[in-house]
Amino acid sequence: MNEIAIAGGVTTESVSEAEAAGMRRSAREQIIGRFPRPLDRQDTRDHFRLAARHETILPERVRDALARLRDGATDAVVLHGLPADDRTGPDAPPLLGWTWLAMVTRQLGHEFGYRAEKNGDLVHDVRPRPDGAATQSNASSAVDLSLHTEVAFHDVRPDFVVLYGVRSPQPRPATRLVHIADAVRECRPETVRRLREPRFRIAAPESFSPAGRAATEGVGPIGGSPGWPTVRWHSSITGSTAQDRAAIADFLDCAERVAHRVRLGPGSLVVFSNNRCLHGRDSFTAQYDASDRWLLRTYVLRDVTRLMTRYGPAPDGDGIRTLAEAA
Ligand SMILES: [Fe+2]
Repeated sequence: MNEIAIAGGVTTESVSEAEAAGMRRSAREQIIGRFPRPLDRQDTRDHFRLAARHETILPERVRDALARLRDGATDAVVLHGLPADDRTGPDAPPLLGWTWLAMVTRQLGHEFGYRAEKNGDLVHDVRPRPDGAATQSNASSAVDLSLHTEVAFHDVRPDFVVLYGVRSPQPRPATRLVHIADAVRECRPETVRRLREPRFRIAAPESFSPAGRAATEGVGPIGGSPGWPTVRWHSSITGSTAQDRAAIADFLDCAERVAHRVRLGPGSLVVFSNNRCLHGRDSFTAQYDASDRWLLRTYVLRDVTRLMTRYGPAPDGDGIRTLAEAA
């Protein structure tokens, strides 16, 4: 029941049915019942703060796993068996899902967003859209979403990304998770050497640059030390030579070979280091109705200094500035 598995930088925990019953009761009494207002994707402060205050609703070993993620001892945590919302309607707010997302987010840092991405929402709805079906974006469904890190072109990037499964079609599409250390071990040394050089270009996604022109030059997609590599990656990555292109192709081949597959559905959550993991998603069939896949997502900064020094305090003076602008 209380399974713990640690493999390749990914820690998996399962909450038992008995634990889940207690968690559901406590979350309703201590958080949801005390928060009568509708949840607001752009103003998460009060709800997230309340969830943080009651973090002990999460089993101790789950909080320990999140502490290991914060410490860099593990690079991804997968949780299964969290109490899920009883669905009352196609768009009923997933109150329990938001609560788990909030608790996990505030164990690791602070949620933030980008004005250009989902209009500055701090809790993102990830759902398929007909106009995005074949794109490399979170609205896609008909194509595999290739391996990437979040907001790779930007200089203020999330430290952690949290995804909670509100709903999923069957069979559940796999979220692919790649620990950069595994991928680096699999690659030719020449590939890794080249990808450490600041000679690559990553374009801004369309949401950040509607004209499609903004890009960051001089990116070394593999960073960190030989013993503790980091990664910054997007499908738009290009280099200027044949060797650069060979390195990109070799890296992607190697990374796909060592991917973990996580299937997110109601009650499942994955949180990973955006510096140490790439992620992608297999294609699935979207119906564009109330049965479609629906994830909640937050971007997390463990230290708000970068946001504060670059963008200043929040206009209302209430703690951190939660939005980053396009570069
Ligand atoms: Fe993503």
